[in-house]
Amino acid sequence: MNSLHFKSFENFLLSSAIELELSTVVKDIVSACTDISKVLSCCTIEGLTGAIEQQNSSGETQKQLDVLSNQILKDKLCLNKSVKYIASEEENNVVSASPSGKFAVAFDPLDGSTNIDVNGSVGTIFSILPALKDGSPEASFFQAGNQQLCAGYILYGPATQLVITFGKGTYIFTLQPDANMFMLTENKTSIPKETSEFSVNMANTRYWKREFGNYIQHLLDGSSGPRQKPYNMRWVGAMVADIHRVICRGGVFLYPSDKREKLQTGKLRLVYEASPMALIIENCGGSAFNESTSLLSVVPTSLHQKVPVIAGSTNEVHTCLNYL
Ligand code: AHG
Ligand code: MN
Ligand code: MN
Repeated sequence: MNSLHFKSFENFLLSSAIELELSTVVKDIVSACTDISKVLSCCTIEGLTGAIEQQNSSGETQKQLDVLSNQILKDKLCLNKSVKYIASEEENNVVSASPSGKFAVAFDPLDGSTNIDVNGSVGTIFSILPALKDGSPEASFFQAGNQQLCAGYILYGPATQLVITFGKGTYIFTLQPDANMFMLTENKTSIPKETSEFSVNMANTRYWKREFGNYIQHLLDGSSGPRQKPYNMRWVGAMVADIHRVICRGGVFLYPSDKREKLQTGKLRLVYEASPMALIIENCGGSAFNESTSLLSVVPTSLHQKVPVIAGSTNEVHTCLNYL
């Protein structure tokens, strides 16, 4: 690849007239994620793949790399004077950074961390909101997703890619490791409205509600069923990787509510997983819903709140919603 043909992320920020303070925050997130990608590439050699004897607020056992990625992002953002508050999957409470800061930053430092042991794809998801002047630190994160100033994710796969939106279009950048720079490799990201690929954890079938089970069964019925076409299924088990596939070639990503006590409102967290992904998806022509309304209109009421996610190719998302 000859990088001379591609625009760097820094030049993109300048030419898109992204406000200076917001640019510094985004650049710090991306720089921290570049560091995380380096840690990931040598984590097996350095013996960092294991879990630790500690759980996060969602009751999940933390991996060493969950904690380390969180620390890398937190250290970087705490030094940025524009960041007032930080919320993370791996922090029980909001972290107060610079009192004069304008922004509240939420992140899932390492998404799909069960893939670490098998050298599978993982990611980082982030969301930037305006920090509110009044109210508790949490209040800045209790804003609907449509208030986000920026949302993005980094996919640590065969290549490290940054996917980002400032609310107008979604852009894909690819890390050129030698230069340590992200280059713009896709600027017309668009999710096809129709699809024949779905992404769901089929092992949860017995826990699903009847209506959702019927929808999936009709996909499995293929050409001879009511949907009258063959469907394919993919599940990486890292939301970043599964959503990235949907963004690149269409599809529907599904993590519904189910009958288990801990999953009655799904598994994914609204503030730092569903909401930023919804802004990205809607900005490339896709749709993102919980089981009834647009995810971007949902106002969080707690930091680690979970929400069902039905997202991707618009026509398929609405077909699924019709079953529900
Ligand atoms: P995290 O690693 O940040 O806790 O997120 C894991 C999430 C998400 O990435 C993925 O879509 C989902 O959990 C996978 O769930 P299953 O264990 O049901 O496959
Ligand atoms: Mn996650
Ligand atoms: Mn995570």
